[in-house]
Amino acid sequence: MVFKERKSREKGVIEEDRLLELHVYPGNFCNRDCSFCTVFGSPKGWYTEYTIEHLEATLKTVCLHENGTLKFYGGEPTLNHENVIWAIHYLREKGFRGSVVIYSNGIQAERLLQILDADPLDKTTASLNYSIATGDGASQMPKRSLQMLEAYELDHPGTIAIGHPDIVDSGRGVNPFTGEETRPVINSKCPRCYPVLTTEGKFHACPFAVENKAPHFQLGDAMATPAQISTNFKAFLNWLDTVHEPFAVEHNLPACTVCQQHLHQLPVPSFEGKKD
Ligand SMILES: C[S@@+](CC[C@H](N)C(=O)[O-])C[C@H]1O[C@@H](n2cnc3c(N)ncnc32)[C@H](O)[C@@H]1O
Ligand code: SF4
Ligand code: SF4
Repeated sequence: MVFKERKSREKGVIEEDRLLELHVYPGNFCNRDCSFCTVFGSPKGWYTEYTIEHLEATLKTVCLHENGTLKFYGGEPTLNHENVIWAIHYLREKGFRGSVVIYSNGIQAERLLQILDADPLDKTTASLNYSIATGDGASQMPKRSLQMLEAYELDHPGTIAIGHPDIVDSGRGVNPFTGEETRPVINSKCPRCYPVLTTEGKFHACPFAVENKAPHFQLGDAMATPAQISTNFKAFLNWLDTVHEPFAVEHNLPACTVCQQHLHQLPVPSFEGKKD
């Protein structure tokens, strides 16, 4: 395999009320409907474009310096690549100097490469869906797409990575998964991902659970102050340590199963200000 896995970076970093990383999410509209998909991706999914209001809220929440990272996912970002390219240009014009990662299934390879080539700072990379790149757990992307992406990676080493093979019990979860049994499905500790800003204007605490509307995840809306979002994210991380993980350990459950099936048994984190 030409593509390499990337190491994840330090979790929970907040500098002067700005998050080191933020996910942006325009809905779960997708050209696939993977059996395990954490966001219920589907051709029948919802979708709302990135707008100036959404990107302004993004710019006040994430670190703008070289180490800041914005992660575009979905759904499938290549289904409206023009809007993604416009969003990256807007972020650059407004001073975002960090890196951008596009999570994609790679099927629309030509469009994905257009997104990667469009960044004036040349700091946009891709991360491919493990199952669709390898054929383990989903049907593999067309050969032509794979060849195009492999050739690009060989020409631009480190630009196109492959996602982690692990699947978590969120969204459609682990039960319908039909891939190799060698893929790990049990994770007792929350990976503590950075939050998401959806194009519906909500800050959600978890990119895997973004379609879960429970109050436990609602950090605030796009009008919230950066201080409120960072305070609420710290409250969420504290809740993971003091409430969620002890419950998972006590009941011998994978971390995401607790969020998927047991939140009604757990108190909501102590959030400040407007929550939904
Ligand atoms: C939700 S997808 C959206 C972007 C794009 N459609 C894709 O598949 O890469 C983002 C990432 O989440 C991963 N993913 C989806 N369901 C998952 C699950 N149940 N557990 C772990 N990762 C999952 C996908 O493999 C992909 O790498
Ligand atoms: S994992 Fe990605 S490609 Fe598969 S259905 Fe979900 S959003 Fe679509
Ligand atoms: S344990 Fe909960 S918060 Fe952590 S990744 Fe899983 S669904 Fe998200």
